Amino acid sequence: MFITQCKQYGLQNMKYKFNLNNKSLAINGGKPIRKKPWMDNFTIGEEEKSAAIRAINSGYLSLFEGSHTPDNPFSFLGGPEVQSLEEEWSEYYQVKYSISMNSATSGLYAAIGALGIGFGDEVIVSPYTMSACAMAPMIYGAIPIFADVELETGSLDPDSIEEKITERTKAILVVHQFGLPADMDRIMEIAVKYNIRIIEDCAQAHLAKFNDKFVGTFGDIGVFSLNVNKTIQTGEGGVCITNNSDLAYRLQLIRNHGEAVVGPAGYENITNICGFNYRLTEVQAAMAREQLKKVEELTSNRLELVYELSRLLDEVEFLVPLKERKSAKSTYYVFPMRFLEEIAGITRDSFIKAVNAEGILFNQGYVKPLYYEPVYQKKQLFKNGYPFSASENQGCRMNYSKGICPNAEKLHFDEMIINEHIRPPQLKNDISDIIKSINKIIEY
Ligand SMILES: Cc1ncc(COP(=O)(O)O)c(C=O)c1O
Repeated sequence: MFITQCKQYGLQNMKYKFNLNNKSLAINGGKPIRKKPWMDNFTIGEEEKSAAIRAINSGYLSLFEGSHTPDNPFSFLGGPEVQSLEEEWSEYYQVKYSISMNSATSGLYAAIGALGIGFGDEVIVSPYTMSACAMAPMIYGAIPIFADVELETGSLDPDSIEEKITERTKAILVVHQFGLPADMDRIMEIAVKYNIRIIEDCAQAHLAKFNDKFVGTFGDIGVFSLNVNKTIQTGEGGVCITNNSDLAYRLQLIRNHGEAVVGPAGYENITNICGFNYRLTEVQAAMAREQLKKVEELTSNRLELVYELSRLLDEVEFLVPLKERKSAKSTYYVFPMRFLEEIAGITRDSFIKAVNAEGILFNQGYVKPLYYEPVYQKKQLFKNGYPFSASENQGCRMNYSKGICPNAEKLHFDEMIINEHIRPPQLKNDISDIIKSINKIIEY
């Protein structure tokens, strides 16, 4: 309203004049805009409950067995709920193979393993994402190399990726961060130019599209999460997708004790086939099948709230949502925005404290750029500094100095505000409390 008034009187350039000492603000004891608690992202309905009971009543909570079982349709590949989920997932995403996992973390680890990555290899990753993305290469002895993100979108910057490529680069792990697709045109161009494999982390990006094509279907392997914070959820869970039959089999081997399977199966390419137990249960798979049926509705409910908040924030010049690419359809895990202190004239910290006192939950930053964590600063994951200290890895460009990714640091330490209120079952009315709180602070 304040901005509208300014614009009306030709005062577009008038600076915001905050008075955070005003007694009416909740931060100073005034009445907050909202007292009602915010709802959790719980999307489980009667259908999922019946499906879980169906799976329990079948008498088989899991049918997986870590052995080569060509005559048994279930043991190595899991039970009917797991296999039906995988078929339905493949049909939805129009891919040849879906391999369920017990988390997206497991999916990322298995993806690195399936691609045969190991000691002496480098994998380019984003520093501004979930920790498992950089951990995945290290599990197999490879070295994560951090490329910077774009300030406006928060996604891996293709120019920075290209700068980091060496003859050791084997893969780029691209995250469609916050549900906003990365620049897959440029990234796939780079992949082809340098013969590099691509893993797409779609944990936060169910149904997001780039050039009208689902993210997760551009690279070699796409990985989705079904944890409780995601658009569709089964408590914990994940799904990998691929069109490559050998990669699909390798993912299945890594999921399920593959070292005991490759011998009887006569599979020769045994590198990295240290099989884990990454198996999804029948109950989770049954619930996931129901969630998949609802993914469009859940996404469109979420997008309605996203568009409403974007519309309302349009007037607030110092809060700029991360930019969605023209060719993208983003699906928004959270609502990410940049706080521009030079326009606001107050710090992000003081603004967030004032907004949150009004009953809103704005989070300062997202995750610290990953290379700030002790594992990188001390170059120590396993005993004796492995994998960093491995002889094969000497010569990898392991630079984890603070300052290597200035955009990720600027976003995290100065600008980023994350808001989760765009998740159903919140409604448009709830969203209006956000803008009422911001306007109250601006007006006073
Ligand atoms: C970008 C990203 N990748 C991977 C993961 C790991 O997902 P999961 O919890 O299913 O292991 C998450 C979880 O928050 C994530 O946000």
